[in-house]
Amino acid sequence: MIPGEKERPIIRMYRVHKRFGSKAALTDISLEINENEFVLISGASGAGKTTLLKLIYRGESASEGQVLVDGMNLLRIPRNRIPELRRKLGIIFQDYKLIPDKTAFENVALVLEAAGHPRRFIGKKVKSVLRGVGMEEKADAFPPSLSGGEQQRVAVARAMVGDPKVILADEPTGSLDPDSAGVIFSLLEQYHRKGATLLVATHDRDLIRNAGGRVIHLEQGRLITGR
Ligand SMILES: Nc1ncnc2c1ncn2[C@@H]1O[C@H](COP(=O)(O)OP(=O)(O)O)[C@@H](O)[C@H]1O
Ligand SMILES: [Mg+2]
Repeated sequence: MIPGEKERPIIRMYRVHKRFGSKAALTDISLEINENEFVLISGASGAGKTTLLKLIYRGESASEGQVLVDGMNLLRIPRNRIPELRRKLGIIFQDYKLIPDKTAFENVALVLEAAGHPRRFIGKKVKSVLRGVGMEEKADAFPPSLSGGEQQRVAVARAMVGDPKVILADEPTGSLDPDSAGVIFSLLEQYHRKGATLLVATHDRDLIRNAGGRVIHLEQGRLITGR
């Protein structure tokens, strides 16, 4: 950061509650995440990590409180502005969520097609991003023929291809062996070092210990400040 430059929050939550029926998944969460920050969301299974990420990409709406993402007030935005929000974000899931009957190339290209980019640009960009994650030779493979680590590399490429400002990753290494997990994590860190904001939810204590980011700890839906 340039000295004297003011830190700019890209994600802000103010007194957020999320309830599912009578179950409180998140209780009174206030937080700020700055541009280019790397934040780990830790906590046991059921602590509310996935719900917190869902509120940021509008997979769920808050029951109460304010959620702001890059200047968009998610309480207020109409449904037809959700695509604009999603283009700011790259999202990675534990179970990859690739489309099984589309090739690796097609899975990644879909993002740019939806954003209306020209075909020639899409071809070049997808190839270059697949090269970046070491999957250029498997561009024509279908996800079921790939290993878990390879599928997650494709999912990382899909999350990054639109050059989003923010990457949200929900237990991105939770289904992977340690070597593949290391590859995925270093790809995420690389993207963060280029200037993106990175949020990773994980219950993996080793990963939290070894990773560099700020830690936000959740316990039964409440935020406990971490390192
Ligand atoms: N769609 C839902 N309907 C009902 N309860 C839910 C739903 N999603 C999450 N919960 C509950 O909210 C709590 C937090 O869940 P979650 O955010 O998935 O936690 P984590 O990702 O930390 O494991 C849990 O008690 C979970 O059962
Ligand atoms: Mg979860």
